[in-house]
Amino acid sequence: MTAFTYRTGTLFVENLPLQELAERFGTPLYVYSRAQLEAHYRAFDEAFADIPHQVCYAVKANSNIGVLNVLARLGSGFDIVSGGELARVLAAGGDPAKVVFSGLGKQESEIEDALKAGIACFNVESDAELDRISAVASRLGLTAPVSLRVNPDVDAGTHPYISTGLKENKFGIAIEDAIRVYQRAALLPGLKIVGIDCHIGSQLTTTLPFADALDRVLAMIDQLAEHGITLEHLDIGGGLGVRYRDEVPPTPAEYAAALLPRLKTRNLKIYMEPGRAIAANAGVLLTRVEFLKPSAHKNFAVVDAAMNDLIRPSLYSAWMDIVAVTPRDAERVPYDIVGPVCETGDFLGKERKLALEPGDLLSVMGAGAYGFVMSSNYNTRGRAAEILVDGNHAYTVRRRETLADLLALESVLP
Ligand code: LLP
Repeated sequence: MTAFTYRTGTLFVENLPLQELAERFGTPLYVYSRAQLEAHYRAFDEAFADIPHQVCYAVKANSNIGVLNVLARLGSGFDIVSGGELARVLAAGGDPAKVVFSGLGKQESEIEDALKAGIACFNVESDAELDRISAVASRLGLTAPVSLRVNPDVDAGTHPYISTGLKENKFGIAIEDAIRVYQRAALLPGLKIVGIDCHIGSQLTTTLPFADALDRVLAMIDQLAEHGITLEHLDIGGGLGVRYRDEVPPTPAEYAAALLPRLKTRNLKIYMEPGRAIAANAGVLLTRVEFLKPSAHKNFAVVDAAMNDLIRPSLYSAWMDIVAVTPRDAERVPYDIVGPVCETGDFLGKERKLALEPGDLLSVMGAGAYGFVMSSNYNTRGRAAEILVDGNHAYTVRRRETLADLLALESVLP
Protein backbone atom coordinates (compact mmCIF):
# COMPACT_ATOMS: atom_id res chain seq x y z
CA MET A 1 0.00 0.00 0.00
CA THR A 2 1.17 3.52 -0.65
CA ALA A 3 -0.76 6.60 0.31
CA PHE A 4 1.27 8.75 -2.11
CA THR A 5 0.02 8.21 -5.68
CA TYR A 6 -0.27 10.19 -8.91
CA ARG A 7 -3.81 10.79 -10.07
CA THR A 8 -4.68 12.94 -13.07
CA GLY A 9 -1.07 14.04 -13.39
CA THR A 10 -0.50 15.25 -9.85
CA LEU A 11 0.68 13.66 -6.61
CA PHE A 12 -1.91 12.89 -3.96
CA VAL A 13 -1.63 11.88 -0.34
CA GLU A 14 -4.64 9.72 0.47
CA ASN A 15 -7.51 11.73 -1.10
CA LEU A 16 -5.85 15.13 -1.16
CA PRO A 17 -3.62 16.70 -3.83
CA LEU A 18 -0.28 17.81 -2.36
CA GLN A 19 -0.49 20.90 -4.58
CA GLU A 20 -3.56 22.01 -2.63
CA LEU A 21 -1.91 21.36 0.74
CA ALA A 22 1.12 23.45 -0.25
CA GLU A 23 -1.16 26.33 -1.21
CA ARG A 24 -3.20 26.04 1.94
CA PHE A 25 -0.39 25.59 4.47
CA GLY A 26 2.67 27.03 2.70
CA THR A 27 6.10 25.46 2.16
CA PRO A 28 8.40 23.92 3.28
CA LEU A 29 5.81 21.52 4.64
CA TYR A 30 5.98 18.07 6.18
CA VAL A 31 2.96 15.96 5.24
CA TYR A 32 2.19 12.61 6.89
CA SER A 33 -0.43 9.99 6.05
CA ARG A 34 -2.40 8.39 8.85
CA ALA A 35 -3.36 5.39 6.68
CA GLN A 36 0.27 4.74 5.80
CA LEU A 37 1.43 4.98 9.42
CA GLU A 38 -1.29 2.56 10.43
CA ALA A 39 -0.47 0.10 7.65
CA HIS A 40 3.19 0.03 8.71
CA TYR A 41 2.36 -0.44 12.40
CA ARG A 42 -0.09 -3.24 11.62
CA ALA A 43 2.45 -4.99 9.40
CA PHE A 44 4.74 -5.40 12.45
CA ASP A 45 1.95 -6.25 14.84
CA GLU A 46 0.50 -8.91 12.55
CA ALA A 47 3.88 -10.38 11.61
CA PHE A 48 4.50 -11.29 15.26
CA ALA A 49 0.92 -12.28 16.04
CA ASP A 50 1.90 -15.90 16.80
CA ILE A 51 3.92 -15.01 19.87
CA PRO A 52 3.45 -12.62 22.79
CA HIS A 53 4.86 -9.30 21.61
CA GLN A 54 4.72 -5.54 21.92
CA VAL A 55 5.65 -3.10 19.17
CA CYS A 56 7.32 -0.07 20.78
CA TYR A 57 7.58 2.57 18.06
CA ALA A 58 10.92 4.44 18.33
CA VAL A 59 9.74 7.96 19.10
CA LYS A 60 12.98 9.55 17.88
CA ALA A 61 12.08 8.78 14.26
CA ASN A 62 9.11 11.15 14.31
CA SER A 63 7.95 12.43 17.66
CA ASN A 64 5.05 14.64 16.63
CA ILE A 65 2.28 13.99 19.16
CA GLY A 66 -0.26 13.69 16.32
CA VAL A 67 1.77 10.81 14.90
CA LEU A 68 2.26 9.22 18.33
CA ASN A 69 -1.45 9.46 19.01
CA VAL A 70 -2.33 7.62 15.77
CA LEU A 71 -0.05 4.76 16.85
CA ALA A 72 -1.17 4.80 20.50
CA ARG A 73 -4.76 4.30 19.34
CA LEU A 74 -3.67 1.06 17.65
CA GLY A 75 -2.11 -0.20 20.87
CA SER A 76 1.48 0.74 20.11
CA GLY A 77 4.02 1.04 22.87
CA PHE A 78 6.93 3.45 22.61
CA ASP A 79 10.70 3.35 22.77
CA ILE A 80 11.88 6.63 24.28
CA VAL A 81 15.35 8.09 24.82
CA SER A 82 14.62 11.13 26.99
CA GLY A 83 12.27 12.63 29.52
CA GLY A 84 11.10 14.86 26.71
CA GLU A 85 10.02 11.89 24.65
CA LEU A 86 8.22 10.44 27.68
CA ALA A 87 6.29 13.71 28.04
CA ARG A 88 5.34 13.50 24.35
CA VAL A 89 4.09 9.92 24.70
CA LEU A 90 1.96 10.90 27.70
CA ALA A 91 0.64 14.01 25.92
CA ALA A 92 -0.30 11.80 22.96
CA GLY A 93 -2.31 9.41 25.14
CA GLY A 94 0.29 6.63 25.06
CA ASP A 95 0.27 3.97 27.77
CA PRO A 96 3.33 4.32 30.03
CA ALA A 97 3.09 0.62 30.87
CA LYS A 98 4.10 -0.02 27.23
CA VAL A 99 7.12 2.28 27.26
CA VAL A 100 10.75 1.16 27.17
CA PHE A 101 13.44 3.71 27.94
CA SER A 102 16.62 3.40 25.84
CA GLY A 103 19.68 5.62 25.63
CA LEU A 104 23.04 5.69 27.35
CA GLY A 105 22.94 8.94 29.30
CA LYS A 106 19.75 8.94 31.34
CA GLN A 107 19.56 11.85 33.79
CA GLU A 108 18.35 11.37 37.37
CA SER A 109 15.28 13.51 36.76
CA GLU A 110 14.42 11.50 33.64
CA ILE A 111 14.73 8.24 35.57
CA GLU A 112 12.54 9.65 38.32
CA ASP A 113 9.82 10.77 35.88
CA ALA A 114 9.85 7.40 34.12
CA LEU A 115 9.63 5.49 37.42
CA LYS A 116 6.71 7.60 38.59
CA ALA A 117 4.96 7.11 35.25
CA GLY A 118 5.34 3.32 35.63
CA ILE A 119 7.17 2.43 32.42
CA ALA A 120 7.68 -1.19 31.33
CA CYS A 121 11.45 -1.23 31.31
CA PHE A 122 14.72 0.69 31.43
CA ASN A 123 17.18 -0.53 28.80
CA VAL A 124 20.43 -0.10 30.68
CA GLU A 125 23.75 0.50 28.95
CA SER A 126 26.40 0.56 31.72
CA ASP A 127 27.31 -0.35 35.31
CA ALA A 128 27.18 3.31 36.27
CA GLU A 129 23.69 3.68 34.88
CA LEU A 130 22.51 0.64 36.88
CA ASP A 131 23.81 2.31 40.04
CA ARG A 132 22.02 5.52 39.21
CA ILE A 133 18.68 3.81 38.51
CA SER A 134 19.04 1.73 41.67
CA ALA A 135 19.70 4.85 43.75
CA VAL A 136 16.76 6.79 42.33
CA ALA A 137 14.36 3.85 42.70
CA SER A 138 15.48 3.22 46.28
CA ARG A 139 15.07 6.88 47.19
CA LEU A 140 11.51 6.85 45.81
CA GLY A 141 10.68 3.47 47.35
CA LEU A 142 9.92 2.09 43.88
CA THR A 143 11.21 -0.86 41.87
CA ALA A 144 12.74 -0.23 38.46
CA PRO A 145 12.21 -2.94 35.85
CA VAL A 146 15.51 -3.27 33.99
CA SER A 147 16.95 -4.97 30.99
CA LEU A 148 20.57 -4.81 29.85
CA ARG A 149 21.37 -3.66 26.36
CA VAL A 150 24.02 -6.06 25.20
CA ASN A 151 26.29 -5.36 22.30
CA PRO A 152 26.46 -8.54 20.23
CA ASP A 153 29.36 -7.28 18.05
CA VAL A 154 27.72 -7.84 14.69
CA ASP A 155 28.22 -5.66 11.67
CA ALA A 156 24.89 -4.27 10.57
CA GLY A 157 26.38 -3.36 7.19
CA THR A 158 24.91 0.12 7.31
CA HIS A 159 26.29 3.67 7.37
CA PRO A 160 28.96 3.99 10.12
CA TYR A 161 27.02 6.81 11.82
CA ILE A 162 23.94 4.64 12.27
CA SER A 163 25.63 1.33 13.06
CA THR A 164 25.53 0.62 16.77
CA GLY A 165 26.20 -3.06 17.41
CA LEU A 166 29.97 -3.21 16.98
CA LYS A 167 32.53 -3.51 19.80
CA GLU A 168 33.91 -0.06 19.01
CA ASN A 169 30.51 1.66 19.30
CA LYS A 170 29.56 3.51 22.46
CA PHE A 171 26.36 1.52 22.88
CA GLY A 172 25.45 -1.38 25.10
CA ILE A 173 27.38 -3.75 27.34
CA ALA A 174 29.94 -6.04 25.72
CA ILE A 175 28.47 -9.51 25.53
CA GLU A 176 31.43 -10.99 27.45
CA ASP A 177 30.70 -8.64 30.40
CA ALA A 178 26.98 -9.22 30.42
CA ILE A 179 26.81 -12.09 32.93
CA ARG A 180 28.86 -10.14 35.45
CA VAL A 181 26.71 -7.03 35.06
CA TYR A 182 23.48 -9.05 35.36
CA GLN A 183 24.80 -10.62 38.57
CA ARG A 184 25.57 -7.18 39.95
CA ALA A 185 22.14 -5.92 38.93
CA ALA A 186 20.54 -8.84 40.80
CA LEU A 187 22.16 -7.63 44.03
CA LEU A 188 21.36 -3.94 43.73
CA PRO A 189 18.35 -2.58 45.64
CA GLY A 190 15.37 -1.14 43.81
CA LEU A 191 15.88 -3.14 40.62
CA LYS A 192 14.01 -6.02 39.06
CA ILE A 193 15.66 -7.76 36.13
CA VAL A 194 13.02 -8.35 33.49
CA GLY A 195 14.74 -8.61 30.15
CA ILE A 196 17.55 -8.27 27.69
CA ASP A 197 17.82 -5.83 24.83
CA CYS A 198 19.86 -5.31 21.70
CA HIS A 199 19.82 -2.83 18.83
CA ILE A 200 22.51 -3.18 16.18
CA GLY A 201 21.91 -0.28 13.83
CA SER A 202 19.51 1.42 11.52
CA GLN A 203 18.48 1.11 7.85
CA LEU A 204 19.40 -2.61 7.67
CA THR A 205 18.44 -4.11 4.34
CA THR A 206 18.95 -7.83 5.02
CA THR A 207 17.74 -10.11 7.80
CA LEU A 208 21.11 -11.78 8.35
CA PRO A 209 22.60 -9.37 10.92
CA PHE A 210 19.33 -9.46 12.89
CA ALA A 211 19.39 -13.26 12.95
CA ASP A 212 23.08 -13.32 13.93
CA ALA A 213 22.53 -10.88 16.76
CA LEU A 214 19.48 -12.81 17.92
CA ASP A 215 21.43 -16.07 18.07
CA ARG A 216 24.06 -14.43 20.24
CA VAL A 217 21.48 -12.92 22.55
CA LEU A 218 19.59 -16.22 22.86
CA ALA A 219 22.84 -17.97 23.80
CA MET A 220 23.32 -15.29 26.43
CA ILE A 221 19.82 -15.92 27.78
CA ASP A 222 20.69 -19.62 28.18
CA GLN A 223 23.87 -18.77 30.02
CA LEU A 224 21.99 -16.42 32.30
CA ALA A 225 19.50 -19.18 33.09
CA GLU A 226 22.41 -21.39 34.14
CA HIS A 227 23.35 -18.66 36.59
CA GLY A 228 19.81 -18.59 37.96
CA ILE A 229 18.77 -15.40 36.15
CA THR A 230 15.56 -15.86 34.16
CA LEU A 231 14.13 -13.21 31.91
CA GLU A 232 10.56 -12.33 30.94
CA HIS A 233 11.26 -10.49 27.74
CA LEU A 234 13.64 -10.00 24.87
CA ASP A 235 13.77 -6.65 23.09
CA ILE A 236 15.08 -7.08 19.54
CA GLY A 237 15.50 -3.32 18.94
CA GLY A 238 14.68 -1.52 15.73
CA GLY A 239 16.64 -0.99 12.55
CA LEU A 240 14.60 -2.49 9.72
CA GLY A 241 15.38 -0.45 6.62
CA VAL A 242 13.13 1.14 4.03
CA ARG A 243 13.39 1.80 0.32
CA TYR A 244 14.74 5.28 -0.38
CA ARG A 245 16.05 4.51 -3.86
CA ASP A 246 16.51 0.93 -5.02
CA GLU A 247 17.05 -0.92 -1.74
CA VAL A 248 14.91 -4.01 -1.28
CA PRO A 249 14.66 -4.28 2.50
CA PRO A 250 12.81 -7.21 4.07
CA THR A 251 9.16 -6.55 4.80
CA PRO A 252 8.10 -6.81 8.46
CA ALA A 253 6.68 -10.24 7.56
CA GLU A 254 10.03 -11.39 6.13
CA TYR A 255 11.84 -9.95 9.13
CA ALA A 256 9.51 -11.85 11.45
CA ALA A 257 9.87 -15.04 9.38
CA ALA A 258 13.64 -14.92 9.85
CA LEU A 259 13.34 -14.55 13.62
CA LEU A 260 10.20 -16.44 14.62
CA PRO A 261 11.56 -20.01 14.31
CA ARG A 262 14.17 -19.05 16.90
CA LEU A 263 11.62 -17.41 19.19
CA LYS A 264 8.61 -19.71 19.10
CA THR A 265 10.14 -22.29 21.44
CA ARG A 266 11.04 -19.65 24.02
CA ASN A 267 8.86 -18.50 26.78
CA LEU A 268 9.64 -14.84 26.18
CA LYS A 269 7.62 -11.78 25.32
CA ILE A 270 9.19 -10.04 22.35
CA TYR A 271 9.53 -6.27 22.29
CA MET A 272 10.62 -4.46 19.13
CA GLU A 273 11.51 -0.83 18.48
CA PRO A 274 10.94 0.03 14.81
CA GLY A 275 11.11 3.71 13.96
CA ARG A 276 12.05 4.33 10.35
CA ALA A 277 10.06 1.40 8.95
CA ILE A 278 6.88 2.90 10.42
CA ALA A 279 7.42 6.60 9.77
CA ALA A 280 9.77 7.16 6.80
CA ASN A 281 7.51 6.29 3.90
CA ALA A 282 4.48 7.73 5.65
CA GLY A 283 5.75 11.26 5.10
CA VAL A 284 7.12 13.71 2.55
CA LEU A 285 8.67 17.15 2.64
CA LEU A 286 7.11 19.60 0.19
CA THR A 287 9.29 22.40 -1.11
CA ARG A 288 8.88 25.05 -3.79
CA VAL A 289 11.43 26.03 -6.42
CA GLU A 290 12.45 29.64 -5.81
CA PHE A 291 14.97 30.12 -8.61
CA LEU A 292 16.66 28.17 -11.35
CA LYS A 293 20.34 28.93 -11.58
CA PRO A 294 22.02 27.49 -14.63
CA SER A 295 25.80 27.65 -14.83
CA ALA A 296 28.45 26.36 -17.19
CA HIS A 297 29.02 23.30 -14.99
CA LYS A 298 25.75 22.61 -13.28
CA ASN A 299 22.11 23.53 -13.06
CA PHE A 300 20.96 24.45 -9.60
CA ALA A 301 17.36 24.54 -8.46
CA VAL A 302 17.22 26.72 -5.36
CA VAL A 303 14.27 25.57 -3.25
CA ASP A 304 12.71 26.91 -0.05
CA ALA A 305 13.63 23.86 2.09
CA ALA A 306 17.18 23.44 3.32
CA MET A 307 19.52 21.34 5.42
CA ASN A 308 17.95 22.84 8.55
CA ASP A 309 14.64 21.23 7.48
CA LEU A 310 16.05 17.88 6.36
CA ILE A 311 19.64 17.09 7.22
CA ARG A 312 19.92 13.47 6.07
CA PRO A 313 21.42 14.25 2.63
CA SER A 314 24.01 16.63 4.14
CA LEU A 315 24.86 14.51 7.18
CA TYR A 316 24.92 10.98 5.80
CA SER A 317 25.04 11.63 2.05
CA ALA A 318 21.64 9.96 2.16
CA TRP A 319 19.80 9.67 -1.14
CA MET A 320 16.20 10.81 -0.87
CA ASP A 321 13.90 10.59 -3.86
CA ILE A 322 12.77 14.01 -5.16
CA VAL A 323 9.81 14.14 -7.51
CA ALA A 324 7.80 16.87 -9.19
CA VAL A 325 4.37 17.09 -7.60
CA THR A 326 2.85 17.97 -10.98
CA PRO A 327 5.39 16.78 -13.56
CA ARG A 328 5.78 18.91 -16.69
CA ASP A 329 5.69 17.46 -20.14
CA ALA A 330 9.11 18.86 -21.08
CA GLU A 331 12.71 17.78 -21.41
CA ARG A 332 14.25 16.68 -18.13
CA VAL A 333 17.72 17.93 -17.25
CA PRO A 334 19.92 17.24 -14.21
CA TYR A 335 19.61 19.66 -11.31
CA ASP A 336 21.27 19.92 -7.94
CA ILE A 337 18.41 20.67 -5.57
CA VAL A 338 19.84 23.10 -3.04
CA GLY A 339 18.52 25.19 -0.17
CA PRO A 340 19.16 28.83 0.72
CA VAL A 341 21.47 28.06 3.67
CA CYS A 342 25.03 29.38 3.44
CA GLU A 343 26.83 26.02 3.34
CA THR A 344 28.07 24.06 0.36
CA GLY A 345 26.72 20.98 2.12
CA ASP A 346 23.20 22.39 1.95
CA PHE A 347 21.57 20.19 -0.66
CA LEU A 348 18.61 17.84 -0.77
CA GLY A 349 19.71 15.94 -3.84
CA LYS A 350 22.26 16.06 -6.63
CA GLU A 351 22.01 15.43 -10.35
CA ARG A 352 18.26 14.86 -10.35
CA LYS A 353 16.67 14.76 -13.77
CA LEU A 354 13.63 16.99 -13.66
CA ALA A 355 11.75 19.44 -15.89
CA LEU A 356 11.43 22.52 -13.69
CA GLU A 357 10.17 26.08 -13.71
CA PRO A 358 10.35 28.56 -10.82
CA GLY A 359 7.36 28.09 -8.52
CA ASP A 360 7.16 24.34 -9.15
CA LEU A 361 6.46 22.13 -6.21
CA LEU A 362 8.78 19.23 -5.34
CA SER A 363 8.19 16.38 -2.93
CA VAL A 364 11.07 14.78 -1.05
CA MET A 365 9.91 11.23 -0.46
CA GLY A 366 10.57 9.05 2.58
CA ALA A 367 10.94 12.11 4.80
CA GLY A 368 8.57 10.96 7.55
CA ALA A 369 11.42 9.57 9.71
CA TYR A 370 14.47 11.51 10.91
CA GLY A 371 13.17 14.52 9.00
CA PHE A 372 11.43 17.16 11.09
CA VAL A 373 12.86 15.72 14.33
CA MET A 374 16.41 16.53 13.18
CA SER A 375 15.53 20.01 11.94
CA SER A 376 17.04 23.16 13.41
CA ASN A 377 16.78 26.92 13.27
CA TYR A 378 20.13 27.38 11.52
CA ASN A 379 20.25 30.64 9.58
CA THR A 380 17.29 31.77 11.73
CA ARG A 381 14.86 29.76 9.70
CA GLY A 382 11.63 28.83 11.46
CA ARG A 383 10.90 25.16 11.40
CA ALA A 384 8.35 23.86 8.89
CA ALA A 385 4.74 23.09 9.69
CA GLU A 386 3.64 19.45 10.00
CA ILE A 387 0.34 18.23 8.55
CA LEU A 388 -1.32 14.90 9.19
CA VAL A 389 -3.72 13.74 6.49
CA ASP A 390 -6.60 11.38 7.23
CA GLY A 391 -8.61 10.52 4.12
CA ASN A 392 -10.15 13.78 2.89
CA HIS A 393 -8.96 15.86 5.83
CA ALA A 394 -5.70 17.59 6.64
CA TYR A 395 -4.87 18.62 10.19
CA THR A 396 -2.07 20.91 11.37
CA VAL A 397 -0.23 18.84 13.97
CA ARG A 398 2.49 21.46 14.36
CA ARG A 399 2.16 25.01 13.18
CA ARG A 400 4.95 26.75 11.35
CA GLU A 401 7.42 28.54 13.63
CA THR A 402 7.28 32.32 13.42
CA LEU A 403 10.09 34.81 13.88
CA ALA A 404 8.46 35.77 17.17
CA ASP A 405 8.81 32.12 18.29
CA LEU A 406 12.49 32.16 17.42
CA LEU A 407 13.26 35.40 19.26
CA ALA A 408 11.07 34.68 22.28
CA LEU A 409 13.72 32.71 24.16
CA GLU A 410 16.48 35.29 23.79
CA SER A 411 17.36 38.56 25.48
CA VAL A 412 19.97 41.30 25.38
CA LEU A 413 22.19 42.52 28.23
CA PRO A 414 20.53 45.02 30.60
N1 LLP B 1 16.08 1.54 19.20
C1 LLP B 1 17.23 2.17 19.48
C2 LLP B 1 17.90 1.87 20.75
C3 LLP B 1 17.78 3.08 18.57
O1 LLP B 1 18.94 3.68 18.85
C4 LLP B 1 17.11 3.34 17.35
C5 LLP B 1 17.65 4.30 16.37
C6 LLP B 1 15.89 2.68 17.11
C7 LLP B 1 15.40 1.77 18.04
C8 LLP B 1 15.09 2.89 15.85
O2 LLP B 1 15.79 2.49 14.73
P1 LLP B 1 15.06 2.44 13.31
O3 LLP B 1 14.01 1.37 13.36
O4 LLP B 1 14.47 3.78 13.09
O5 LLP B 1 16.16 2.15 12.37
N2 LLP B 1 19.21 9.71 12.12
C9 LLP B 1 19.56 8.50 11.42
C10 LLP B 1 19.05 7.27 12.13
C11 LLP B 1 19.53 7.15 13.56
C12 LLP B 1 18.96 5.96 14.28
C13 LLP B 1 19.28 6.00 15.74
N3 LLP B 1 18.73 4.93 16.54
C14 LLP B 1 19.06 8.59 9.99
O6 LLP B 1 18.47 9.60 9.62
O7 LLP B 1 19.27 7.67 9.19
